[in-house]
Amino acid sequence: MGANSFMMTFPQFFGRGCSKEAGEKLAAMGCKKVLVMHGKGVEAAGLPAPIVQAIESAGLEVAENNEVESDPSDRIIKKIADFGRAAGVDSVVAIGGGSCMDAAKCVKLLLDNDEPLEVFYDISHSQKTAIPLITIPTTSGSGSEASKGAVVTDTVNGIKRVIIGAGTTPAMALIDPELTLGVPPKVTAACAFDVLAHAIDAITSKMTCRITQAVSYEAIRLMESSYKQAVEHGDDINAREDMQLASNLGGYGIGNAKCSMSHAFAHALGALYHVPHGVCCAIFTPASLEYVSDTCPEQIRAIAELLHTAYDAEDSTREIARKTGEQIRRMYRSVGIDDITAYIPDEEEAIKRLTPVAEKDIMALFSPRPIDGESCEWVIRRTYELARS
Ligand SMILES: [Fe+2]
Repeated sequence: MGANSFMMTFPQFFGRGCSKEAGEKLAAMGCKKVLVMHGKGVEAAGLPAPIVQAIESAGLEVAENNEVESDPSDRIIKKIADFGRAAGVDSVVAIGGGSCMDAAKCVKLLLDNDEPLEVFYDISHSQKTAIPLITIPTTSGSGSEASKGAVVTDTVNGIKRVIIGAGTTPAMALIDPELTLGVPPKVTAACAFDVLAHAIDAITSKMTCRITQAVSYEAIRLMESSYKQAVEHGDDINAREDMQLASNLGGYGIGNAKCSMSHAFAHALGALYHVPHGVCCAIFTPASLEYVSDTCPEQIRAIAELLHTAYDAEDSTREIARKTGEQIRRMYRSVGIDDITAYIPDEEEAIKRLTPVAEKDIMALFSPRPIDGESCEWVIRRTYELARS
């Protein structure tokens, strides 16, 4: 196997208040009319209004759409693309979390290409790119602003699809920590453990490399030092800024090395029981880390240390991973995230239902240890054992 690569994607602007630069950036690219898309929650929080105002002050017309939903479906993406086409837009701005940014990437793809969304489920199908998209994250979790790919719900087949290519690639990201000041504690907590799972998955993935690991270790350091403060004191801009940076770096990690084991299980739990994505990540990171630990002993030690895990010098890698998993569980419990037993009380039901979905999840391909029925059962049983400890 050759060396894995790390690639920066497109410009990332990071700073307090930088979301208001969207208008001047679009004007500099020669844009005249922009589709601004977001969801109703972000609208209720009052986040789009100042950005829209700044865009209009830069001389652009705005067509605003507030129909983005979480886990965006093919249907809503087509509907918003039709809205943008009818309005004659020449650019897109996404203001929201991962769902909104992923939906916007697909909307841009449809505006750039005169073909149905379904043909792009085949990632080898060529994509044209024409109009610019600016991503503006309002949560600190997905890191989607930094990546070229999008996850979309295929309602015909009832599964999630990944679309990636020139057509889904943003022109730039504006990462403004001030936009996250009002995110509720529960959402902040869940998103923080999505970040941690991205970093750990990227460090342990088959696609990892030293550069991906360097970026992801920093994401863990920032997350560990600021997640609790961001949850308990949401108005602390320094903690929010750390979490926005951690999320962005986590996005780079998985953009290069892909998600791995914890996300295979997180996708299964999320899809079957509608548990928030970050909560699913928190629940499955400890056992997943333990399962893959023997493949990456140095990385396990580094993660343990960044999370201030107490372990003995003579401990085996597996033992260090077990203690690190317990530490992660203490961390997520400390910010009010429940164990798996709160969502699926019956362990046998969890094994029966989650295993076939996790095993086939695309992220399972990037696990450094093979995922099969037996290993899925081990991870799920270990997750219940931790919950009962
Ligand atoms: Fe994630």
